[in-house]
Amino acid sequence: MGGTPLAELASMPPDETLASFDLTRREALSTISLAAAPLVLGSETVASAADTSTKSSTEIALHINGKPIRLTVDPRSTLLDLLREQLGLTGTRKGCDHGQCGACTVLIQGRRVNSCLTLAATHDGEEITTVEGLAHPDRLDPIQTAFIDHDAFQCGYCTPGQICSASALIAELRRGDASFVTADLTQKHPVVLSD
Ligand code: FES
Repeated sequence: MGGTPLAELASMPPDETLASFDLTRREALSTISLAAAPLVLGSETVASAADTSTKSSTEIALHINGKPIRLTVDPRSTLLDLLREQLGLTGTRKGCDHGQCGACTVLIQGRRVNSCLTLAATHDGEEITTVEGLAHPDRLDPIQTAFIDHDAFQCGYCTPGQICSASALIAELRRGDASFVTADLTQKHPVVLSD
């Protein structure tokens, strides 16, 4: 069924125009139904693609707290979930899971990173340090000792993230990295700390 040309509609008496418009509307509804069919089919296709990706996995090699390890991971898994759920390293905490609280902070290649915001599969071959890897076999890391000495806790839930972050902060200061208080970003200076 073809549509009614606009010029023809304009020359019709109002009743005929409405009838023709009604046909056109039915045609339009029919067209919309036909157009919707591939969308439904499309969503099924998306669902089956998701089912397939659920089963997918990838193999990576990591150095975690100094130990090499090969793992099969879901490519959608965050580093945080890999550490906690797959490796049982529960010292790294899940707080907001949105990159806002820092409870999940770990060191990747010596730099502090919110592990809830990064995919494990993107760190193939890299060195990951969690709070479990900061302490030495016979003594705590100086940052851990300082937290205890100064009672630097609130509820304690995010303390591992704070300790990892503080550890990396000291390393950044030693390297002379720029920070919020760097006066001149064009020059790299050693940072002199006050008490
Ligand atoms: Fe809060 Fe990652 S869990 S920043």
